[in-house]
Amino acid sequence: MGDRSQQGRRRCTLPVPYPEPQVVAPNAYYANLLLEDYAGVTSELTAINQYLYHHFTVNEEYEDLNELWKCISIVEMKHEAMLAETILLLGVAPEYRTLTNNFPVYWSASYVYYGVEVCDRLTADIAGEKEAIQNYRKHQDLIADPYIRQLLERIIMDEEHHLKLFYQVAAKYCPRWEEVRD
Ligand SMILES: [Fe+2]
Ligand SMILES: [Fe+2]
Repeated sequence: MGDRSQQGRRRCTLPVPYPEPQVVAPNAYYANLLLEDYAGVTSELTAINQYLYHHFTVNEEYEDLNELWKCISIVEMKHEAMLAETILLLGVAPEYRTLTNNFPVYWSASYVYYGVEVCDRLTADIAGEKEAIQNYRKHQDLIADPYIRQLLERIIMDEEHHLKLFYQVAAKYCPRWEEVRD
């Protein structure tokens, strides 16, 4: 990775080290909760692909948005990798599916909000980040394993940073962005 892209990614993560994924003991219930964050409707996998698509198709006049979608997507890949490692340690294969009541639902490209207009896309991205934070908080409450709770806390920090970054560009490009905010 060149200097420029490393610099780009640094802007989209906080300068706080990530904890090494580890678990107290294998636990299928915890793995199933994390599979929702990993490959559910509102998941890291959806975020990666949604931001990449926005990056691939944005009009070239939005150079800052182009960079932002790419660099946030790369941070979501890091989150996805750490979740995969944790799910594996919990004793479950991190395939791209959820396992609610042991019933597999595979990730679908229809989970992605594609959109056309920049402000519609930013609205969807902001909603997705907010929901991701809510889901992580919910899962923190249900998971007693301190290592996993710590990992989720660190991921939440990045998602809050992403919200801030999306708000900044929404304020720049979207005349009614305040409606998006709350
Ligand atoms: Fe993420
Ligand atoms: Fe995010």
